[in-house]
Amino acid sequence: MMAMNLPRSPGSDSGARPAVHRTVLEIQALTKRFGEVLAVDAIILSVAQGEVLGLLGPNGSGKSTTLNMILGFVRPTAGRVMIDGHDLERDRRQALLSVGGLVEGSAFYPYLTGRRNLWMLARIRGLPRTSVDEVIGLVDLGQAADRKFGGYSTGMRQRLGVAAALLHDPKLIVLDEPTSGLDPAGTREMRQLIPRIAAEGHTVVLASHLLVEVEQVCQRVAILKQGRIIAEGRVADLLSGDGSLRIRIAESDLAKAQGVLLSKPDVKSVTIDNGDLVVSAAIDGSAVNRMLVQEDIYASRIEPAGRSLESVFLELTEAGGNP
Ligand SMILES: Nc1ncnc2c1ncn2[C@@H]1O[C@H](COP(=O)(O)OP(=O)(O)OP(=O)(O)O)[C@@H](O)[C@H]1O
Ligand SMILES: [Mg+2]
Repeated sequence: MMAMNLPRSPGSDSGARPAVHRTVLEIQALTKRFGEVLAVDAIILSVAQGEVLGLLGPNGSGKSTTLNMILGFVRPTAGRVMIDGHDLERDRRQALLSVGGLVEGSAFYPYLTGRRNLWMLARIRGLPRTSVDEVIGLVDLGQAADRKFGGYSTGMRQRLGVAAALLHDPKLIVLDEPTSGLDPAGTREMRQLIPRIAAEGHTVVLASHLLVEVEQVCQRVAILKQGRIIAEGRVADLLSGDGSLRIRIAESDLAKAQGVLLSKPDVKSVTIDNGDLVVSAAIDGSAVNRMLVQEDIYASRIEPAGRSLESVFLELTEAGGNP
């Protein structure tokens, strides 16, 4: 993994404005054309400080191209990227000082320890060595910090990459498929790390084609299809159902339970879906449970019958040719 290598400007922290709900990333009509291919098509996006935004989309939908434009690696065909109030085109240096990224490629010396690699980066960027201790703590590298990079697992390499991206304390962190190639333990560690980064006040934009990843770590999601944002919103809102409940009970009790509930005035409908009861009612789960218990029916699980991000995603990305 390669971390961005940026000089530090002495003025980069000056002019700080109030920290609440400040827009850290603003994208206006951002467009990238590679010859005939319209990779990113006039996307508009705004991300507030401390938010974790997921860019979700199938292969080739323009996620990496978008992130690479934010990181200054790819020049937009049209549109604008503002990072922490700095226009990437006109005020490139300040804008790039405000962003750090984890992208494909490796830029560490195998024969140096993780810590020494970071010391070198810090020296190049004119940062104090204490900044290295801070980021090592944040990414939880532990003992591995003093082992040679060459012996690192993919998960450790990835976390060192994140540490390097955080070294200059950027407002915005950009992660492209942060768990790709990681085993389940490495994946879990990375997914735990992302909220910690956000809790430190960094804003995170991550690209993923994994629904569960976005569901687990992002508050907001923008769904990309063929370079366009076809849906955007809070993950909780996208997933929320209509307030109905999904109830798991023994199969032998299903018909009886349906009859019992349908006889109650507060219950609007009861359907059987996939072996579960789906109940639409003007009362909450515990009230429904009480009705069942009175009839000697015991639920093993009662939960909101929300939609899965997968069904939302497939609905949106597979529907017709046009978004
Ligand atoms: N350097 C390039 N030159 C030409 N075409 C490119 C280039 N980079 C990306 N593309 C094209 O732009 C489109 C978007 O690609 P991009 O890599 O941004 O998608 P992605 O959403 O990141 O996909 P993946 O999930 O596979 O990583 C694709 O059609 C891709 O082939
Ligand atoms: Mg990609």
